[in-house]
Amino acid sequence: MASATARAHPNIAFIKYWGNQDSSLRIPVNSSLSMNLDGLFTETTVEWNPQFVSDVVEINHQPASDLASRRVIQHLNQIRQRYSVTDFAQVRSSNNFPMGAGIASSASSFAALTLAATKAAGLDLPERELSSIARLGSGSASRSIPSGFVEWHAGYDHESSYAESFALSDHWNLVDVVAVVSQSHKTTGSTEGHQSAETSDLQSARVAGAEDRLKACKSAILDRDFTTFAEVVERDSNLMHAVMMTSRPPLFYWLPTSLVIMQKVREWRDSGLHVCYTLDAGPNVHCLCLLPDSAQVAAALKSIDGVSEVRIAAAGAGAHLIS
Ligand code: DP6
Repeated sequence: MASATARAHPNIAFIKYWGNQDSSLRIPVNSSLSMNLDGLFTETTVEWNPQFVSDVVEINHQPASDLASRRVIQHLNQIRQRYSVTDFAQVRSSNNFPMGAGIASSASSFAALTLAATKAAGLDLPERELSSIARLGSGSASRSIPSGFVEWHAGYDHESSYAESFALSDHWNLVDVVAVVSQSHKTTGSTEGHQSAETSDLQSARVAGAEDRLKACKSAILDRDFTTFAEVVERDSNLMHAVMMTSRPPLFYWLPTSLVIMQKVREWRDSGLHVCYTLDAGPNVHCLCLLPDSAQVAAALKSIDGVSEVRIAAAGAGAHLIS
């Protein structure tokens, strides 16, 4: 088969990936935990063809920007080198969520690209290997290969750094209610951010405690213990943002509305709702809650000034082929 189509979901990290031991291989300084986001996905078709004279990349039915094309072609080069593929490829990728909605698409994009490109090349790679290959394109993409609740083992080299599922998506009725916070300027992307993490005096302290937080978070998920989960998820997000804010140059991803939402979430939790927050490299607030409380959380978020949109996603599947 010279062509294949794959679908992958983005993921939200509960214990964050921030900083690499090896930035060219994207070997992170700490292991991380996440959940795939159902309902949101990237679908990618890859065709390898001996008659193509170059790689062609299309995203959302348009020729990709130079920057995006370069990153995709770099990933195709990795696959060509590692598996002795000699053809050029046509890559057609689309997201069912708007790029401007502030939901990071690199995880779902590189997970779908990895599965489609290797399958189209006639390879049938085990999940662990797919995850390591996806990691080379975008670190968090390693976590979009396995299904449901996922742990990315930091490891120390290409083979030992991969993600695997530790609970299926129906294990817990956890829901991510994403408050999209309007944003007028472009912020520093994660790839650049990872490189500046070690310039913060706080990064070593964050990394030193990461394994303990990961263990506490994983046990809380396995025990469906929301109280412990909420405390450790918020602490881990705050620690990552403390590192960001104290890096040189400093990175401030929160907007005033982000902070308003974080304060509200804590008030709502004190009043009995099962909800906590986490933020990635942007101002959107991911409000993690139990399904029975999600409608109330979504309605309350919509009424906050500065929230442009609210998206709801439950735990989702891993990357899979659709043709
Ligand atoms: C803040 O995976 O987007 O979302 O490897 O450079 O593509 P690259 O970075 P990326 O970093 C994600 C950072 C984060 C935290 C997380 O998802 O763990």
